[in-house]
Amino acid sequence: MTQEIAVLSAKPDVALESSAVRKVFVKTYGCQMNVYDSDRMTDALAKDGYVATDVMEDADLVLLNTCHIREKAAEKVYSALGRLRDLKKKKAGEGREMMIGVAGCVAQAEGDEILRRAPAVDLVIGPQTYHRLPEALQRVKRGERVLETDYAIEDKFEHLPAPDKAKTKARGVTAFLTVQEGCDKFCTFCVVPYTRGSEVSRPVAQIVAEAQKLVDAGVREITLLGQNVNAWHGVGANGEKWGLGDLLHRLTQIEGLSRLRYTTSHPRDMDDSLIDAHRDLPQLMPYLHLPIQSGSNRILKAMNRRHTTAEYIALIARIKAARPDLALSGDFIVGFPGETDEDFEDTLRLVETVGYAQAFSFKYSTRPGTPGADLGDQVPEDVKAKRLERLQALLLKQQNEFAQACIGKTIDLLLEKPGRMPGQLIGRSPWLQSVNVDANASQIGDIVSVRITGAGPNSLFAEVVS
Ligand code: SAH
Ligand code: SF4
Ligand code: F3S
Repeated sequence: MTQEIAVLSAKPDVALESSAVRKVFVKTYGCQMNVYDSDRMTDALAKDGYVATDVMEDADLVLLNTCHIREKAAEKVYSALGRLRDLKKKKAGEGREMMIGVAGCVAQAEGDEILRRAPAVDLVIGPQTYHRLPEALQRVKRGERVLETDYAIEDKFEHLPAPDKAKTKARGVTAFLTVQEGCDKFCTFCVVPYTRGSEVSRPVAQIVAEAQKLVDAGVREITLLGQNVNAWHGVGANGEKWGLGDLLHRLTQIEGLSRLRYTTSHPRDMDDSLIDAHRDLPQLMPYLHLPIQSGSNRILKAMNRRHTTAEYIALIARIKAARPDLALSGDFIVGFPGETDEDFEDTLRLVETVGYAQAFSFKYSTRPGTPGADLGDQVPEDVKAKRLERLQALLLKQQNEFAQACIGKTIDLLLEKPGRMPGQLIGRSPWLQSVNVDANASQIGDIVSVRITGAGPNSLFAEVVS
């Protein structure tokens, strides 16, 4: 009898499974946290029978995970939606349904406008509500156009599935892990406090469990993510208060986890225990993304960064005293309202003083709703463009100098993926540079000793030291 029931119920299940295989195409814009979130959404959808596809035309669901940081980033979404509308129409003509969802920071900031401007969109979902995605899709299936952009009261991470072992394997030997989300800093140029909400730290146990899962699936290097990752705080096993330094210590106890990184840090939140971690933990890579945005104290004040250039330079000296081989990367904005030639020269001087291994730089982009948008004295586009060109030339020169200085050094390389040529692999140096080396595909995931032999524009070349 029992068997009969089993057989009976097996039949509809099988039928359900074959018809239930649906495909999701996810396009990710913006920062690493969006990359992480896209993977979590894909994992959450797997429970409903969705498999990821790289071919947009094959998808039953297209999700755009969007970025609102600059005007250009946000505009990309609307042009992508125009193309998707045509695809949806074409597929409907062939009798195939395609759902369109918009996630990420544009969804959070402009949800209503997206639904108004883009009638083909079925679903808008903000970063705080991704755990509600499967349910939201059910509502779409019932004919609703869904807008989910509340700041969720429940913990999204508790409800999102942990990384799937097979998928993690396919994603490779490095992984992101969000430990902190949101921002309370309110820099006057920035949308993030509005799109990602206020600062929330994930609990230690949740982070450790996720890291362990990643390592069990073959991950060797984890980058801890947060908009203000060094503001992460939690409670240790004995009830004591923990900062990011303590969390890093705890993570180094996971056997097989060879490398740790964290990004992005705010200069005001680099505490002593985090600086000490750079001295004490060999697993913590000697590379730090520590944006300052401008080298002018007047502009830093107007940006509400709440520190001076002198404090930033002193801080870097302390971190480098703890870890002398540490290299820095940063972010810069040129043409913030009121920025004079003199302010800009201060930025160039600061870059000369600090010396960056890599840095990102942008023209200031006015963001609706931020205090910067209301400031007078906006800098003309052509002035911004000229300043950006000069700054980028200097940063590129420093990047090349840093790469050249690596030639001849013997370093540890984490072998990550196949290279362009057969018999070649690409790995990451401790300073996050791509390094090409002759090695066997079976060595992916190994950390090997290599000697740097040359430097190209975007990567280094090396040979394995036997
Ligand atoms: N939390 C990080 C930054 C996240 S946004 C921090 O505190 O540094 C990433 C970068 O985008 C910023 O560092 C800044 O350089 C740039 N950015 C943010 N808003 C911008 C705007 N309105 N215009 C131009 N660049 C901007
Ligand atoms: Fe934006 Fe400033 Fe927060 Fe960074 S610290 S996310 S730049 S508001
Ligand atoms: Fe963009 Fe949002 Fe990240 S605005 S940079 S996707 S936090």
